[in-house]
Amino acid sequence: MTDTDERLTRIQEVRRRLAQEGPPRARDREGDFETVTVPERHCDELRDLMVAERAEKVVEVGLAYASSALAIGEALAIVNRPLPRHIVIDPYQGREYADAGWDLMCSAGLDEIATLMLDPSSVALPRLLTEGFVADAAFVDGSHRFHEVFVDLYFLRKIVRPGGLIVVDDDWWPSVHTAACYYERNLGWTVIPDAFPDAFPDKAIGVGPQGGQRPRCKAFRLPDPSFEPSFEDFRAW
Ligand SMILES: C[S@@+](CC[C@H](N)C(=O)[O-])C[C@H]1O[C@@H](n2cnc3c(N)ncnc32)[C@H](O)[C@@H]1O
Repeated sequence: MTDTDERLTRIQEVRRRLAQEGPPRARDREGDFETVTVPERHCDELRDLMVAERAEKVVEVGLAYASSALAIGEALAIVNRPLPRHIVIDPYQGREYADAGWDLMCSAGLDEIATLMLDPSSVALPRLLTEGFVADAAFVDGSHRFHEVFVDLYFLRKIVRPGGLIVVDDDWWPSVHTAACYYERNLGWTVIPDAFPDAFPDKAIGVGPQGGQRPRCKAFRLPDPSFEPSFEDFRAW
């Protein structure tokens, strides 16, 4: 077995155990893990998308129980490019989750390539931008408040390279969907069809404002080259 195979097997084993047995510890709320974490099948689709992207550098907002972070780590190990980096942002990892997600990342050996930033994304993302960090892709599953998702996408658009990928979880919530819609309608982001064939609503909250159903995860391709539109061209809806 090569080092790469061993690394991959270790990550896959931690992912499998997490999906089957749950995290080593969880918040004292009924069904918290199942409610909070990204389901395994969507994590598999996220991994496959990152592999197809041949991603080397990824920014993720919202660690919680690390199901999505482990899937992204698995993708980076499969792609096996020379300088993989995974920046994970979550201000509540210690206080709310007693480091459950980060400990899983460490068990999987992913702390070698991952950095946990313990600031809110509205503080961490501008810092990454100032440092000149350039990502191939991002996954957004942090605060679900409209204004905070909007700000996440504002900065990620400048951090992810032109033509790169931004994946949004929980697009079935009007707050998240409305924030993402602005970028789709005004800034040339295009939805990647069939990126999440299995991510259609499986919960009541999947019902949209007009009663229509929306998929949970949505993947966007950024325009290349990037551009700034005139304010006169603003499209509200
Ligand atoms: C739905 S959970 C993420 C689930 C995770 N993707 C998984 O698969 O387990 C949302 C996470 O966002 C974090 N969060 C909330 N507000 C945030 C903010 N302003 N910046 C970054 N993360 C935030 C929470 O602490 C929580 O861990």
